[in-house]
Amino acid sequence: MPDSQGTTLNPRPASAGAEGASAGAGASSPAVEFRNIDIAYGKFVAVRDFSLSIGKGSFVTLLGPSGCGKTTILRSIAGLVDISAGQIMIGGRRVDDVPIYKRNIGLVFQSYALFPHKSVFDNVAFGLKHRNVAKPEIKRKVGQALDMVRLPGSEKKLPSQLSGGQQQRIALARAIVFEPQVLLLDEPLSALDANMREEMRVEIKKIQKETGITAIFVTHDQEEALSMSDRIVVMNAGSAEQIGTPEEVYERPATAFVADFLGKANMLSGTVSRSDGPTIVTLAGGQTIYVLSPKALPQGSAVTVVVRPQKLSVGRASANRLPGRIVSASYLGGSAIYEVDIGGKANIRANAPIDGRVLREGEAIELGFDPHDCVLLDEAGLRIS
Ligand SMILES: Nc1ncnc2c1ncn2[C@@H]1O[C@H](COP(=O)(O)OP(=O)(O)OP(=O)(O)O)[C@@H](O)[C@H]1O
Ligand SMILES: [Mg+2]
Repeated sequence: MPDSQGTTLNPRPASAGAEGASAGAGASSPAVEFRNIDIAYGKFVAVRDFSLSIGKGSFVTLLGPSGCGKTTILRSIAGLVDISAGQIMIGGRRVDDVPIYKRNIGLVFQSYALFPHKSVFDNVAFGLKHRNVAKPEIKRKVGQALDMVRLPGSEKKLPSQLSGGQQQRIALARAIVFEPQVLLLDEPLSALDANMREEMRVEIKKIQKETGITAIFVTHDQEEALSMSDRIVVMNAGSAEQIGTPEEVYERPATAFVADFLGKANMLSGTVSRSDGPTIVTLAGGQTIYVLSPKALPQGSAVTVVVRPQKLSVGRASANRLPGRIVSASYLGGSAIYEVDIGGKANIRANAPIDGRVLREGEAIELGFDPHDCVLLDEAGLRIS
């Protein structure tokens, strides 16, 4: 369910008519807008009732597990797949019937998809030649795009003479050279090694800012999504589960799915044992903890307390303390990750700075956390608000 809080990406009613919609076309229109779209492959509905409005110049990421419909949504913007219900607007105009070649869209895919026997120049010039741009202008624009991706002077090279990261930069240059209205990036970094990925994250973000282009980025890597996006759409089984800024979706997950997908969250199940004054939850292992509930909850109601591993401390004064025994410890430099058995259904995971020495497997530990670092979910897995 899309989160209506703190987001400009509001679902619109399906009844918004085409006339009313295109009347709003112009500078103030969103760059891209999905209105209650469905996309089906035969009888299989891959995307269901998806709504999203993307402001001009923003960087929005579709994040979700394999098969949740990310690529399908991107393809629908480019006109590579038909929608079976709803509307897609680009720059305030309906594009349902606009063919692919008339949609002004730049695409970058996971596989570089460069023409292997064409030079870098011809690869980047491809979209311009198709748009009948004059030759000197093509030369100028290709040069500019190669400068932008920091590969100036590489016009004569063949893709095979470039590294993976360089090929992906050329693919990016090819996608932005004709100044598209929207840039679509489908897992463009997943074929690169870890170092190159980080470098390209920064690079893509920089280019997007400099050009002011509207970008829609697809990934199943939460770090990529958190570090690059203005907004993240967390997808689950063909629908938007939550839409928000990186901080919103990470700190205030709307559902158990979002909490779990975005970083390893501890999910502590328990029941409300007191709610007059501070709310107290008794966990499955018998421990009692204080939480902050936005509303009074009936005693005995089942809740899940979500706490991020980074919010757990070791050996510090905190309102909540959970004693346990270390099942495994991994040293990460300045911090350590501890898996701790607290006598509940699942072990709890802490990522805590090291105070003194790294504790070892089998040792007793006391984890602390504060009520305001918890999110409360109800029995259905929805954030209590
Ligand atoms: N051409 C197709 N014909 C039939 N079903 C398809 C087709 N393309 C995708 N699907 C199905 O639609 C669903 C969504 O696919 P999609 O490729 O959009 O997922 P995704 O989120 O991009 O996944 P991944 O992270 O693996 O790339 C999947 O269940 C997939 O099997
Ligand atoms: Mg995909």
